[in-house]
Amino acid sequence: MKRILVTGGAGFIGSNFVRHLLLNRPDYDVIVLDKLTYAGNLENLKDVQDNPHYQFVHGDICDVNIVQQTAEGVDAIVNFAAETHVDRSLLEPGAFINTDVYGTYVLLEAVKKLGIERFVQISTDEVYGSVEEGSSVETDQLAPRSPYAASKAAADLMVNAYRTSFGLPTVITRASNNFGPYQYPEKVIPLFVTNALDDQPLPLYGDGLNVRDWLYVGDHCEAIDLVLHKGEPGEVYNVGGGNERTNIELTGMILDLLGKPQSLIKHVTDRPGHDRRYSLNCAKLAALGWQPRHRFEEAMAQTVRWYVENEWWWRKLKSGEYADYYNRNYGHRRTL
Ligand code: NAD
Ligand code: DAU
Repeated sequence: MKRILVTGGAGFIGSNFVRHLLLNRPDYDVIVLDKLTYAGNLENLKDVQDNPHYQFVHGDICDVNIVQQTAEGVDAIVNFAAETHVDRSLLEPGAFINTDVYGTYVLLEAVKKLGIERFVQISTDEVYGSVEEGSSVETDQLAPRSPYAASKAAADLMVNAYRTSFGLPTVITRASNNFGPYQYPEKVIPLFVTNALDDQPLPLYGDGLNVRDWLYVGDHCEAIDLVLHKGEPGEVYNVGGGNERTNIELTGMILDLLGKPQSLIKHVTDRPGHDRRYSLNCAKLAALGWQPRHRFEEAMAQTVRWYVENEWWWRKLKSGEYADYYNRNYGHRRTL
């Protein structure tokens, strides 16, 4: 493999993966196809923009022509492109169905038509639904509960259908909650860090006892690299950090790292249909040779420091469209 198309490569995980590939696979050519939605940001890739092995194409994965043109001659596609925020999927689900479902279908058609060697679909633990006990294995039934999770589950089913019907060389990864640099400040960690830096309240949904399993984005990128090269066609691989924490624990940790008071926490009306817990069994990926390498406490300290030191990156994102979204998502919430 030499030429990799990374769709959605200007977003959080995609841009970290592009950086990972350029660093660890220096003979590869990496092409990013990205629509640059509110979440896409070329500043995420500023440090690689002059790398001769990197190329950016501005376009939508739902656009058949641009996808076929850009995918011509590539050895693999890694698909990160998606609408990704659960709260936004509750406000405007249509965009999720277009990009996450229809866009994935357009990419699969390109893989079929052009005979591309590998298609990696970046999916999520949210497709399993809320897991009150135990941990999800890859063969568990999908039970998505938000429009975001349902659109990702639909994409997973379409990928598997193209594998079964046309023998496409597909693999799916299902990761838990990522954190790290360049995450759009609507997601809980960058949102709470940047609010706390401004001494603004941290809107914690409900009782704060929902559990997420935190995965450092660098560990996720290593897992995707492994699956891209060594994953069995047709298989699904869970990728979890093994760091299950309640949201209240996570929030307390952020405030401690910043030296800010716990009184900034404001319990507000819960997210409708809020999944209580996600948990992944990652034995299958471990058997392929992956383990997360970052310790949670250290990676969190490093991540919080990154936001402290990179205000130039996040400050300008928290105005305009963001301010309007913030008002629509949080304006009506009651303090509990
Ligand atoms: P993000 O929202 O930061 O970035 C998404 C990127 O996709 C942006 O650059 C955006 O411009 C681009 N995009 C959106 N619609 C597009 C379209 N129609 N055509 C081309 N580009 C488009 O997302 P992220 O958090 O980096 O997530 C990346 C992928 O990983 C998603 O598929 C998501 O479902 C999955 N995932 C995310 C997490 C997480 O914790 N963030 C965990 C598991 C899986
Ligand atoms: O599990 C993987 C998923 O993780 C990805 O597929 C999604 O793309 C990604 O957005 C993320 O989804 P979550 O809904 O878990 O992430 P979010 O950062 O929005 O919320 C994390 C937890 O924090 C969740 O239990 C809701 C809570 N929360 C979130 C926000 C934004 C709050 O309490 N207050 C908030 O303001």
